[in-house]
Amino acid sequence: MKEFVEINALAQRVNEALPKGILLNTQGEKFNSMVIGWGALGTVWGLPAFTVYVREGRYTREQLDKTGEFTISVPLEKPDPAIAKACGWQSGRNVDKVQAAGLTLEPPEVNHTPGIREYPITLECRVLYAQKQELSGIPEPIRTRMYPQDVDSSNPMANRDAHVAYIGQIVSAYIIR
Ligand SMILES: Cc1cc2nc3c(=O)[nH]c(=O)nc-3n(C[C@H](O)[C@H](O)[C@H](O)COP(=O)(O)O)c2cc1C
Repeated sequence: MKEFVEINALAQRVNEALPKGILLNTQGEKFNSMVIGWGALGTVWGLPAFTVYVREGRYTREQLDKTGEFTISVPLEKPDPAIAKACGWQSGRNVDKVQAAGLTLEPPEVNHTPGIREYPITLECRVLYAQKQELSGIPEPIRTRMYPQDVDSSNPMANRDAHVAYIGQIVSAYIIR
């Protein structure tokens, strides 16, 4: 069952969970989910929006560019660390994360990308705009720390690639009960 809620009522929970890791789901040829620690819940062009920052080499990036949509899943309680391990350290190119993380998928309401019962707070989003960040425009101390150019793009811990910012319009918000 979905309990539909005001987006603002979820903001504190989402923002507190984000730096510890929430999930960014995509549904291309297969369902995939990756951990994200960066993001922004807010308003863009007068619309409720969630912006995600995905390194260019991620499998998730391929899926986003094909489908133009994503679903954000946020835990309510302390989540099983095995989920973050499977979704944050392995690539959907090589593993089926539904199986690896033991995820229970919830059919979406408006877009085509499922939520996850184990991470019940759900924001269904449609991509409005995608823009690759220009490394030369990032302040030097941050660029050196975040993009040190010594891990190949194919590695889940890749640090060469720039991030692509995807602004997603939130088209449905609910808690899976
Ligand atoms: C706590 C945590 C936060 C992360 N945040 C991000 C993020 O905001 N953006 C990103 O591109 N990768 C982030 N990652 C790395 C991806 O989750 C990881 O590379 C994942 O394996 C990519 O999966 P995919 O190849 O199936 O897309 C994070 C990983 C962890 C453990």
